[in-house]
Amino acid sequence: MQISPFIYGTTVSDKSFTDRDKDSKKLYENLTNGINTILISPRRWGKSSLVEKVAGDISTKHKDIKIVMIDLFSVSGEEEFLEAFAREVLKASSSKWQDWLKSVKDFFKQIVPKISIGTDPANDFNLSFDWVELKKHKDEILDLPEKISASKKFKFVICLDEFQNLATYQGYEEFEKKLRSKWQKHKNVTYCLYGSKRHMLTDIFSKSSKPFYRFGDIMLLQKIGRVDWINFIVESFERTAKSISKENAELIPAYMKDHSWYVQQLAHYTWAKTDHTASKKEINDSLFEVINANSPLFKKEIETMSITQLNLLKAICSGETQLTSNDTMQKYRLGTPRNVSKNKAILINNDMISNGDGSYLFLDPVFELWFRKMFFNEDYIKTM
Ligand SMILES: Nc1ncnc2c1ncn2[C@@H]1O[C@H](COP(=O)(O)OP(=O)(O)OP(=O)(O)O)[C@@H](O)[C@H]1O
Ligand SMILES: [Mg+2]
Repeated sequence: MQISPFIYGTTVSDKSFTDRDKDSKKLYENLTNGINTILISPRRWGKSSLVEKVAGDISTKHKDIKIVMIDLFSVSGEEEFLEAFAREVLKASSSKWQDWLKSVKDFFKQIVPKISIGTDPANDFNLSFDWVELKKHKDEILDLPEKISASKKFKFVICLDEFQNLATYQGYEEFEKKLRSKWQKHKNVTYCLYGSKRHMLTDIFSKSSKPFYRFGDIMLLQKIGRVDWINFIVESFERTAKSISKENAELIPAYMKDHSWYVQQLAHYTWAKTDHTASKKEINDSLFEVINANSPLFKKEIETMSITQLNLLKAICSGETQLTSNDTMQKYRLGTPRNVSKNKAILINNDMISNGDGSYLFLDPVFELWFRKMFFNEDYIKTM
């Protein structure tokens, strides 16, 4: 049996990774030339996949650059962050655990970690610190990559996924200052910081009053282009002994508004339903399936909303742009202008909508299809 060429739910690479040539090149150039880079996009557009791909390319072509990857999604405080940072930097610095122990001896002067090593050191290597001591000597950990790289004559690229999580740590503001003051002095270490909470990240990196202002190059990752999606879908079908016409393949990114995760999901459902050649029927049936699969989640989201928030979504769905005009506020029962701006901020922060050029858009294309059907009785297929 053939395995589906379409993947969603994990980061993608190789044949499942499409386009992003310009983005890959730019990120590659930045990171290999010592330019700190901040990568921002809404959820599931492909940040982690892009960074993993570029990190892989760098490892292959530059033996003198060591890559550190840390996902801060599950790192919930400063202490845990420092431990993960020290552990991953050590692990990236060499493939031999004996070297890690030597580095601990050589580079930790003020603070001595407790080390545990299991039977499989690559996976069971851990460091822990005394918290009181750690608080006094954070600098030593934050400077660790710079010290190791200077002494071993290589460079580090450190990638921190879901970077905005740091802003939820207790005492974050002090920590933020400390990070910036240390990292900006590093000559052998380049940082790639990325995440999806666009407002939090923009706050951290674009406000002149904040320590991380102008820390690096900000890349706002865009969606993958329509033509690239079409080619990707057609080729992926062909590679697995099935086929789809260009015209039909185009329907998939068109329904999904080029959203990476959903294009892969709809393409996968379509592929799975197709024996030989995908027709509109397989695509449309799959669209229903994708919407149905997601609808319990959407219902839940709607249930947690206030009535004025829901009404605001309806107004946006109808294409209203003057949300605080008297007409709009009355027609959709949006409450006061204060309600409107508060609700707008909440919907933007929750990644429900985004605003560009004075108009508002739904960020989740499947949620939009579901919403239009639910509240305006619009047909899924017609709403393209
Ligand atoms: N370059 C790509 N080519 C094809 N599909 C992609 C690409 N990048 C991402 N995808 C699809 O989008 C999904 C989400 O990608 P990824 O996890 O990299 O996004 P993300 O922006 O890091 O998401 P999150 O904000 O949830 O962390 C992948 O599982 C895959 O289906
Ligand atoms: Mg990610």
